[in-house]
Parts: sequence; structure tokens; C-alpha cells
Amino acid sequence: MTDELHVLPPGIEQPQASELVARNIVVQFQGLTAISDVSLKVERHEVFGLIGPNGAGKTTLVNCLTGFQRPTSGSVVLGGEDTTGWTPVKFRKQGVARTFQAGRLFRDMTVAENVEVTALGLGMSRRAGHQHAMAMLEWVGLADRADAIAGTLPYTDERRVGIARALVLSPAFVLLDEPAAGMSDAECDDLMHTIAAIPRTFTCGVLLIEHNMGVIMGVCQRIHVLDGGRTIAEGLPSDIQRDQAVISAYLGMEG
Ligand SMILES: Nc1ncnc2c1ncn2[C@@H]1O[C@H](COP(=O)(O)OP(=O)(O)O)[C@@H](O)[C@H]1O
Ligand SMILES: [Mg+2]
Repeated sequence: MTDELHVLPPGIEQPQASELVARNIVVQFQGLTAISDVSLKVERHEVFGLIGPNGAGKTTLVNCLTGFQRPTSGSVVLGGEDTTGWTPVKFRKQGVARTFQAGRLFRDMTVAENVEVTALGLGMSRRAGHQHAMAMLEWVGLADRADAIAGTLPYTDERRVGIARALVLSPAFVLLDEPAAGMSDAECDDLMHTIAAIPRTFTCGVLLIEHNMGVIMGVCQRIHVLDGGRTIAEGLPSDIQRDQAVISAYLGMEG
């Protein structure tokens, strides 16, 4: 199965970039500074956690890393290449895929079609797109829902479709914005096992936003913490867990 997932149709190659870098990113919305001079680097072999209280700037940063938000200053560098001016489509074609907090599926189309259109839009033939979409759906555990109308899925399944869509063209990086929000503990646990397997299965780095500290500690190799648009810590899960600034930032929100 793993080998099959890696065999892309002729003419489609997995991008080679080995790191996705945010360099001194600043984002201002009118008077509000949503991101203040944030730098980070996601590598191809890891699940990199991005955490922080609500409003910390996590989604805004992901928007910058995928072409949905232009930084006020600073830059995003993919595999050594400056991405200034790239559209979301260009990021996608160069190997940076993402999911959204809300599913954004085509609700009247089937689950399989939702994954296929992404593949077709980026250059796969119908046949190859269908085959590859089915392989992705099987991998995320939704093969038996392939013919269901997307709008009828529970949103926990919608999130998995979103991940299948993000993975269908073998990206170099995938950015997952709170994929487990609203899930039960068991569903969340199951999803985290799937996410943890992405780097080795797809040779694809993962940036994971997740608000549950316990969950993120278990799945990430490194964690970056934002609070009020600023970096307050970055390190191994064991270091982050003990970090005073992180504990203080979280004390206000949990409980
Ligand atoms: N398009 C926008 N226009 C104005 N303010 C925004 C916009 N997007 C986000 N913000 C603000 O930027 C800050 C960071 O938001 P966001 O990145 O969504 O945080 P998080 O994902 O960590 O909860 C918040 O104060 C939010 O209200
Ligand atoms: Mg967010």
C-alpha cells in the first residue's frame, strides 16, 4: 500500500523542497498586528506542532505559508526559493497543501469526486485521478464512503476527506489547521495516528495546529508556540511542557 501511494502518474512528480521556512513574518490588519516577527522552519521528515491560545495568529501564519495571506513584511521560503507573490495555486503546485478549519468540501459532490477534482485541477488524467483519489480515501479510512454525497458526512469524516484531498498530489508539506477540533477523544486519537504516519508514508512534512496540548505532545517532534502573534517558545515536546511562558499562556485558557 505504501509503495502504491508513492507511485504518481506519468508527468506528475513529487516536489523536492526539503524545508518550508517562515522568515521574520509580520502581518498587520489595519491597526492590529496579528503576527510579530515570527520565524520557523518545517522539515520534510517531521510533524511540527504549532500551538497557542485563540487569536495567537496560528491560522494567519498558515495562510502566509500557503499563499492565502501576504505578509506585511518578512518572507516564506520553500526549498530555498523565495515565494513572494505566489498564489495559493502556485504553492499547491510547488508542493504545499493545506486543510481548513471548516471543511470547504463541495457538498453536492461525492466524497471521491471531492478528492478527484483536486487531482484533475493539478494535471492528473481522469483515470489516474480516480485511482489515486481512491488510494488516498482508503488510506484515511474512508474508502467505504467514496460514493456518499459529501454534504451528508459527519464533520469528523469531512476532516479526513480534507486530508485525502491535501495528500492526493503527494505534496512535500501539508498544513493541517485544527483537524481534530470537535472530535471525541477516540476519534482524535485515531486521527493523530493517521497524521503521525504522513511523513514516513508520503515523505511529506506536516505542520499541525491543535489546541489540545496532550494530543500535540504525543504526535509532534518539535513544537512552536505563539501567543498574541509572537513566538514564546520552540522546542521538543518535553521542553515545551515545562516552559514557564507556555504554561502561563495556557493557564489563562484552560480550566
Ligand atoms: N482577515 C482578518 N482581518 C482582521 N483581523 C484578522 C483577520 N484574520 C485574523 N485576524 C485577527 O488576527 C489575530 C490572529 O487570528 P488567527 O490567526 O485566526 O488566530 P488563531 O488561528 O491562532 O486563533 C486575531 O486577533 C484575529 O482576530
Ligand atoms: Mg485558527
